[in-house]
Amino acid sequence: MTITSIIIFGASGDLTRRKLIPALFHQYQRKKLPEQIRIVGVSRTKYSHDDFRDELKEHAKEFVKKLDEDNWAEFAKNIYYCPSDAAKIEEYDELQANLEEIEGGEANRLYYLSVAPFLYAPIIQNLGEAGMNKENGGWRRIIIEKPFGTDLESAKELNKVVHNTFQEDQVYRIDHYLGKETAQNILFFRFANTIFEPVWSRNYIDNVQITVAETVDVGTRADYYDKAGVLRDMFQNHILQLLMLVAMEPPASFNATALRNEKVKVLQSIRPVANGEAIFAQYADYRKAKGVAEKSVTPTYAAVKLQIDNWRWKGVPFYLRSGKALKNKVTKIVVEFKSPPHMLFKNAVGKPGGRNILSLCIQPDEGIHLQFEAKVPGEQAFRTAELQFHYSDAFSEPTGDAYERLILDAIEGDAALFTRSDEIEAAWALFDPIIARSEHNHGTAPFTYQRGSMGPLQADEFIAEDGRVWRKSGCVHE
Ligand code: BG6
Repeated sequence: MTITSIIIFGASGDLTRRKLIPALFHQYQRKKLPEQIRIVGVSRTKYSHDDFRDELKEHAKEFVKKLDEDNWAEFAKNIYYCPSDAAKIEEYDELQANLEEIEGGEANRLYYLSVAPFLYAPIIQNLGEAGMNKENGGWRRIIIEKPFGTDLESAKELNKVVHNTFQEDQVYRIDHYLGKETAQNILFFRFANTIFEPVWSRNYIDNVQITVAETVDVGTRADYYDKAGVLRDMFQNHILQLLMLVAMEPPASFNATALRNEKVKVLQSIRPVANGEAIFAQYADYRKAKGVAEKSVTPTYAAVKLQIDNWRWKGVPFYLRSGKALKNKVTKIVVEFKSPPHMLFKNAVGKPGGRNILSLCIQPDEGIHLQFEAKVPGEQAFRTAELQFHYSDAFSEPTGDAYERLILDAIEGDAALFTRSDEIEAAWALFDPIIARSEHNHGTAPFTYQRGSMGPLQADEFIAEDGRVWRKSGCVHE
């Protein structure tokens, strides 16, 4: 039986402990991992195999729900460690020899780059130079974490480096939002049902609102965040992914090529964002955070209006907003339908009403809410009522962490939930001009908002200019 190795570069880092090892452990418990598995950590720290296992166990106590010690002990037998500075080509002979010893025969290899982004290119080049990309008897694949580039030019450059060493079908660029069950459920909701798709267009939908609100602030990540800002950190990747799932045409089949072809077409149809179609803001004391430049104009919040110029969506604005240090952590997609053509009834609460709202609640509420108007008993008027679906009520299976699904897909060779090179470049091409505008911000500072608020007032004015409001979704914790 061929062995499968998962070789994690950056093994002493936070992601490995917090996400990757817990995800692998959960899948091991569910017996979803290949029987012959080696999980090999690589980083500069001089651990022995046992030191590494012990350290991971300590963290697992924190990050794995109800850690079963016996199960962990079995799982940990598959964990190994190779101290190595992966940025140095002269260390690869030893690394390769160590890996071969651990594998003890022909092996498939999944390289996982969980390192600082500036190390992606050197490690990929080194893997190529050391011949570790060659598929001798087993496949070779590589997972690359985000951020993939910081703009179109750097993403193209990185894609070039990647393609010098790996074929595109060996490359798995992570966007962990695609690993969320509720994000994938957007496609199931649309394409595993008959009743929604006929109304899923400009004929019936007035506008779509995507909100990714976070309560956390920049924390200890200022070095990265102050250079990135919310547009690179959340919009160019996670929010666009959600938008693509909502807006794409049905693919011919659920395979990686068909699915990603349709997603890319959405990006190609988005009109360049005009002045006034994006606003930027910072939470009040952002500039005081350690590591943030004194006069930083990096936005921690943005609201952007996108227009998709195709037959399905022409004229339907997609309003996107995301920020840090906000009141609630919530990710939701609100689809606001048009009013009935002629309203026979009046709204009991005196507002116009008659607009159905479909909310796809991504997190922490995982479900779907549909608002519709219902007759008030004893009155000739309507009031809004709601149908609700919650994963936790409807299914006994846990939804699991995004990484659990994504790592398994990469092992199984299914790239559908990973970002393709043309997709990532199209996303940067769209956001580069918006980012440039936020950086110059017409020479003025971005707007300010209070911590714990819903964002800047200007975000309400922004959508009000189009005669609309940010709709309440009904998603719990909104
Ligand atoms: C990451 C961003 O990609 O996504 C973080 O770098 C952000 O800034 C995080 O907090 C949000 O992910 P989630 O799954 O908690 O919504």
